[in-house]
Amino acid sequence: MKLHIDPTRCQGHGRCYTLAPELFGEDDEGYGTVLGDGLVPAGQEKAARLAVANCPEHAIDLSEG
Ligand code: F3S
Repeated sequence: MKLHIDPTRCQGHGRCYTLAPELFGEDDEGYGTVLGDGLVPAGQEKAARLAVANCPEHAIDLSEG
């Protein structure tokens, strides 16, 4: 699974990097960023889905495969 944040949708609510700090970071202005290449390590799938479900702007995409 791979994570992607749509920067045109992200409004900096910060729930992604609060709920899943292993997968997300923040830029200088508090907007969410995907750590590394966005690939979700084994065991982090639940955290990835939690972040997706909690972004109020639906800015986070989780692609399978
Ligand atoms: Fe942005 Fe959503 Fe995270 S608005 S900071 S991607 S919770």
